[in-house]
Amino acid sequence: MTVLNIQSGASFLMLTLVVQLLLCWSGVYTTDSTKNCKLYSDSESERKVLKRLAPLAQRNFTINSKNGTEDYTYVFQLCGDAWGVSGAGVVQVDNNQKEKKPTIIGMYNSTQAYGGSDWVILIYRNGEAYDGHCKKENRRAMVMISCDRNMDPGKLGSVLEDRERERDCFYLFELDTSAVCPPLQSQLSPGSIILIIGVCVVAVYLIGGFLYQRLIVGAKGMEQFPNYAFWVEVGNLTADGCDFVCRSRSREEAPAYRGVATEPLEEEPEERDDHLLPM
Ligand SMILES: *[C@@H]1O[C@H](CO)[C@@H](O)[C@H](O)[C@H]1NC(C)=O
Ligand SMILES: *[C@@H]1O[C@H](CO)[C@@H](O)[C@H](O)[C@H]1NC(C)=O
Ligand SMILES: *[C@@H]1O[C@H](CO)[C@@H](O)[C@H](O)[C@H]1NC(C)=O
Repeated sequence: MTVLNIQSGASFLMLTLVVQLLLCWSGVYTTDSTKNCKLYSDSESERKVLKRLAPLAQRNFTINSKNGTEDYTYVFQLCGDAWGVSGAGVVQVDNNQKEKKPTIIGMYNSTQAYGGSDWVILIYRNGEAYDGHCKKENRRAMVMISCDRNMDPGKLGSVLEDRERERDCFYLFELDTSAVCPPLQSQLSPGSIILIIGVCVVAVYLIGGFLYQRLIVGAKGMEQFPNYAFWVEVGNLTADGCDFVCRSRSREEAPAYRGVATEPLEEEPEERDDHLLPM
């Protein structure tokens, strides 16, 4: 029974360690998931704006829009296939139709992105052409993304379709999210991130090593400390190094203190005995 308890306790601890390590890792390591977006006209500043939206990637944002008999669902995804439609950033699904064939409003290979301190406007061009309106130009989606610290990942808001015009028609969406908020002052600096990784690694080493020594090797007392012999040796070598580097004069040059040093004191009784014996 106790062996079982120890084993399940150990595996639980191991699990928490792994989770802790993953958390440490994910907090530091993030990939740029906006790479799939292709800018309509490539520019460094637009690329930068797009990178700020990275936390929104790989998420579905949907909104239903009813007006009279019209009943549409709009799906928005950042630099990913919305509604699973290849290349589409925003699609419109007609809920009155049985087969729910999506209409592409904008493609993420024709992206434009502009931003200020706490907002970004994202434009997907090259959607499906209008049937009659707007001189049969391609549809276009604009997503106004604004900062709201209470929204994570965010919520897609009201829809406006402006197609009663000659050209430059668009669908307008709102998205409130914490992703575009300006960073708070207490952001982690690279130094503290490295420190956190260091603490994580040391904690994992100590706890994992302790468990290994105790449960698998079966060590007791100080021997449970991982690589005990090695660290003792390191300690000794460090002490020797300090001794060599920091001491101002060697012991041989100071015979007056010989009797005071600890090592000779231990040897002296033996020497005295040796002298005494033959006499
Ligand atoms: C997005 O929604 C679609 C349809 O509802 C679903 O098939 C897909 O798995 C969702 N993707 C993500 C990343 O949630
Ligand atoms: C509903 O559609 C009509 C005409 O199509 C338009 O004038 C009106 O603004 C729309 N209402 C909403 C809430 O979008
Ligand atoms: C975007 O992709 C579509 C099809 O996937 C293609 O027809 C179109 O030319 C592409 N546009 C750009 C700007 O690459």
